Amino acid sequence: MFKILDKQELAESIIEYTIEARDIARHHHAGQFCIIRVHSHCERIPLSIAETNSQAGTITLVVQIAGHSTQELAQLEAGDSILDVVGPLGQPTKIGSPRRGIFVGGGVGVPAGSSMVRQMKQAGAQVLAIIGFRSKDLIIYEEKMRAVADELVVTTDDGSYGYHGLVTEPLQERLAAGEKYDVVITVGPVVMMRAVAEVTRPYGTHTIASLNPIMVDGTGMCGACRVTVGGETKFACVDGPEFDAHQVDFAELAQRLEIYRDEELRAHEAGPHECRLEQALKELG
Ligand code: FES
Repeated sequence: MFKILDKQELAESIIEYTIEARDIARHHHAGQFCIIRVHSHCERIPLSIAETNSQAGTITLVVQIAGHSTQELAQLEAGDSILDVVGPLGQPTKIGSPRRGIFVGGGVGVPAGSSMVRQMKQAGAQVLAIIGFRSKDLIIYEEKMRAVADELVVTTDDGSYGYHGLVTEPLQERLAAGEKYDVVITVGPVVMMRAVAEVTRPYGTHTIASLNPIMVDGTGMCGACRVTVGGETKFACVDGPEFDAHQVDFAELAQRLEIYRDEELRAHEAGPHECRLEQALKELG
C-alpha cells in the first residue's frame, strides 16, 4: 500500500497527490511514469511523475478527474492509501546536450515538464517553456515552471491570462523569427502534440513527444499501448513513452484513444466494481 501524504486541488478537476513511494522516488528519471491501481477491482491508471523527493521518499502525481477510474482516485484523501503504484516505468528523457531547448506543455501535461526542463538546464541548455490552458482558472504549475525555465510563456485559449492563443502560436513566432533551438519536448493532449510536431517539422527542429496511450500492464506484454513510430510498431510503456514526434502516427493514436473513451463512458454508467478496460481489451483481441 502507498500512503497519500498530501492532496491539493490545483484547479477544477485537477488534483495533486504526494505519495510515499520510496523506491520510485530514488530511481525515477525525467520522462518516466508510473501505473497506479486504487483498489483490486480498479483499472490501472498510467500517470506521469511530476516531481520526486528522494530524501523524503515521495513522488508527486497530478491527475485530471476525467473518467470512472480517476473519480475513484479522487475520493481518496491524505492519510488514505493506494493499492499499487508501479514504477518508474518507461525510458528516461534523452535530450543529449542541447544549447537551447523548448518545453511545450498543455493542461495536465505541464507538471511532467518541470523535471524535463530541469534536466535540460542541468545539461547546460537555455530553456523556454510554453505552457497552455483553456482559461486562467485552469492554470497549474505556473510558478514551478517559472522557477526552473529561463523564460516562460503562458497561453490561454480564451485570452483570460497571458498570451491569447494556442501554445503553437508563440512557438511558431519564435521559429519564424529565426530563433534556433536544438530540441523541443512536448507533453499534453494528442492534438496539441501533433500540432507542435507540424510547427517544428519545416524547421527541422528535433521534437520529442511524450505519448499517453491506454496502458494496462506497463511491461510490454499486453499490447494495449502500441503506437506506430516511423512505420514500426512500438510499445509506449517500454520503448517510450517519448518518441520522435515527426515519426509518430498521431492519427492512429487519437483513433485508439477514442475507442476507449466510449468504453470509459459505459464503465462510468456500469458501476464501480468491474475491470471494464481489461474486458474491453479482451473483446478487441
Ligand atoms: S501497457 Fe501493455 S504493452 Fe504497454
